[in-house]
Amino acid sequence: MSNRKSMGIQHSMCVQPTFLIGTYDEDGNVNFAPITWVSVTCDNGANDHYMLVISMFGSKKTKLNVIKTKQLSANLVSTNMLYLVDYFGNNSGNNGIKEKTPYDYSNGEVLHVPTLDLSKWVYECEVKKIVQTGDSDTFFCDIKNVQIDNDIDISDGIDLTLFDPVVYSGHYHSIGKHLGKIGDYIKEY
Ligand SMILES: Cc1cc2nc3c(=O)[nH]c(=O)nc-3n(C[C@H](O)[C@H](O)[C@H](O)COP(=O)(O)O)c2cc1C
Repeated sequence: MSNRKSMGIQHSMCVQPTFLIGTYDEDGNVNFAPITWVSVTCDNGANDHYMLVISMFGSKKTKLNVIKTKQLSANLVSTNMLYLVDYFGNNSGNNGIKEKTPYDYSNGEVLHVPTLDLSKWVYECEVKKIVQTGDSDTFFCDIKNVQIDNDIDISDGIDLTLFDPVVYSGHYHSIGKHLGKIGDYIKEY
């Protein structure tokens, strides 16, 4: 017998690293907003690579920019970037440029997208397909470039602790220990 209770369907165990999505509007104004409905799938066609899947509800500036330009950056948030999440997440670019909190950004290496200098992992993405479900749009994006922090080595796989990501469940969390690789826990019987 399990030790669980039914809670209805209003809760979501949609626990993911937090990203700040960077876009330009048609006038070249920069905008960032936190988006945590971010996942991956893959394209096993001619390109055969990972794709980023990003979901946004409503008519936020980021969504309008992505629909217009078809380009975005996804900047992984480390714990020292939470002040940017709170600032960018509590203000909409629809109400003016978010310039009350200072931050540094650069243009992408491959695409015309703004990227946050503080981020240790940045995707540069181009939208390939949009799926609408009610008020939400889900963007399937080709990853055109990945930039990672110069001081982090991922040649033997990704040790997330080095990126110190913020994990979002409705509350902000940091992550704990690096527990090992696939196969480290196989038991012999
Ligand atoms: C931690 C956090 C996570 C968020 N995740 C999402 C998300 O996954 N999808 C979404 O549509 N909005 C999400 N939001 C809301 C937007 O970030 C927020 O509405 C923001 O003000 C939009 O700014 P913009 O209009 O400049 O794009 C999130 C906000 C916070 C603070």
